[in-house]
Amino acid sequence: MKYSNLSVFLVLLSSSLSANIPGSLVSELNKRDLASDIAKYGYNYCTANLPDASQYTSVPNSDLVFVQAFFRHGDRTPLLINDSDLPLWNVCNKTIYNSVARPVYVTDISNSTLDFNYVTSNTSMCKPGELTQIGAEYSMTLGKAARSIYIDLLKFLDSDFKSQKQLKVRSTYIDRTQETARYFLSGLYPITPENKNISTTIYHYPSTTETMLTNAGLCPKITPVSNQIIATPQYQTYLAADPNVTQKLDLMFDSYTPNNTDLTTSRQYQSDLLQTRVCHNLPLPCNKLGQCATASDAALELNDTQFEVKYRRRDSQFSPELDRITAGLLFAQVLQDLNTAIASLKKCNRVRMNIYSAHDDTMSTILAGLHADDFNML
Ligand SMILES: *[C@@H]1O[C@H](CO)[C@@H](O)[C@H](O)[C@H]1NC(C)=O
Ligand SMILES: *[C@@H]1O[C@H](CO)[C@@H](O)[C@H](O)[C@H]1NC(C)=O
Ligand SMILES: *[C@@H]1O[C@H](CO)[C@@H](O)[C@H](O)[C@H]1NC(C)=O
Ligand SMILES: *[C@@H]1O[C@H](CO)[C@@H](O)[C@H](O)[C@H]1NC(C)=O
Ligand SMILES: *[C@@H]1O[C@H](CO)[C@@H](O)[C@H](O)[C@H]1NC(C)=O
Ligand SMILES: *[C@@H]1O[C@H](CO)[C@@H](O)[C@H](O)[C@H]1NC(C)=O
Ligand SMILES: *[C@@H]1O[C@H](CO)[C@@H](O)[C@H](O)[C@H]1NC(C)=O
Ligand SMILES: *[C@@H]1O[C@H](CO)[C@@H](O)[C@H](O)[C@H]1NC(C)=O
Repeated sequence: MKYSNLSVFLVLLSSSLSANIPGSLVSELNKRDLASDIAKYGYNYCTANLPDASQYTSVPNSDLVFVQAFFRHGDRTPLLINDSDLPLWNVCNKTIYNSVARPVYVTDISNSTLDFNYVTSNTSMCKPGELTQIGAEYSMTLGKAARSIYIDLLKFLDSDFKSQKQLKVRSTYIDRTQETARYFLSGLYPITPENKNISTTIYHYPSTTETMLTNAGLCPKITPVSNQIIATPQYQTYLAADPNVTQKLDLMFDSYTPNNTDLTTSRQYQSDLLQTRVCHNLPLPCNKLGQCATASDAALELNDTQFEVKYRRRDSQFSPELDRITAGLLFAQVLQDLNTAIASLKKCNRVRMNIYSAHDDTMSTILAGLHADDFNML
């Protein structure tokens, strides 16, 4: 099936025609006109399109035998929130979902941290980067969309949830991906009186070996290669554009100093500051000089981050090296899971779906690694 923005379903098919097995990588990118693709397929930063069962087409002469599903966590609060703005972000009380949310058990793969039963936050005031109520609802809807394809349409997964045996669920060590996985599972297998006690284990790597995030601690080459990309004339020209807007937005962060490289080498946080408010219909902020952000600033910063992702990961001369040490590490694990699935094809109790609840960063890594076109890189 086609992947929707911010979710990718990779499928393993057992084909009766070996010539049909896709094996060659497309070497030339199909870079179509981005603006017309956005108009044609629709694109909304705040809410990604959902997979649609009515548009599902099977691969000819093939049987579906294994699915690897990757998605970004649901809507979250800004990554950086000024102390004075904390009361604004009161959209994280998720106790209203307690009766429909599956019990989950979150565990570190190394067993080095204490395992725990996941309890939803019951305070309204959000932490920076926390899954919001909108994000919880969206993740449940995404799970329902997956149910309509893999259970209702294809009868690929069991329709009743009696145990976790068909599912393997991976998140990162960051709370919002664990919560997102929980709500996705709650949509895939809605709570019933019979299955409400069945707990699902979500596992994650510790931060030191996490491959679903660009992990400079895990691979020391990531920092120098990223710095080479930042130093290119094209990227420096990009950073130097619109200095007045940048200055105005930078003065909105408690943590701003002229040497804060998070703010000086990327527009990610500036865009995040504005887009999170756009998605929640909150007024755009003003800085301490009384200069306020405008809707066109928000559009500019969003456009900037889209350029940044494509340039850093796909289009610069150093991108192939960055992909090798980011996507390469993750793909090695994905391939290992695929080989495990192939080795257990004859078993009746085999895992049929691997679920990866991840970040924008992960999706960019995967899509750049697969040489996605401009629209699919969004
Ligand atoms: C972690 O603990 C579980 C359950 O106790 C066990 O099955 C698993 O093998 C352990 N994993 C590691 C890496 O030690
Ligand atoms: C919120 O959760 C905490 C810890 O789980 C619990 O101690 C507290 O009583 C809860 N508060 C409310 C209002 O439910
Ligand atoms: C969270 O929502 C629940 C249910 O709507 C409500 O009872 C509770 O008081 C809320 N908690 C806070 C801290 O607002
Ligand atoms: C679920 O667990 C609760 C408490 O542990 C228990 O009282 C109840 O009978 C269980 N329900 C089912 C259907 O197993
Ligand atoms: C940027 O600000 C400077 C100084 O405040 C001003 O002179 C200049 O015209 C501004 N540039 C734009 C493009 O608004
Ligand atoms: C960055 O700037 C702040 C204040 O302007 C200063 O205290 C800090 O030492 C600087 N840090 C570095 C790494 O230069
Ligand atoms: C914190 O952010 C708000 C807008 O989000 C802004 O009005 C305020 O000036 C900022 N505070 C500081 C100390 O930068
Ligand atoms: C968006 O960014 C691209 C570079 O990726 C640039 O060519 C274009 O002019 C920008 N559009 C707007 C409206 O800023």
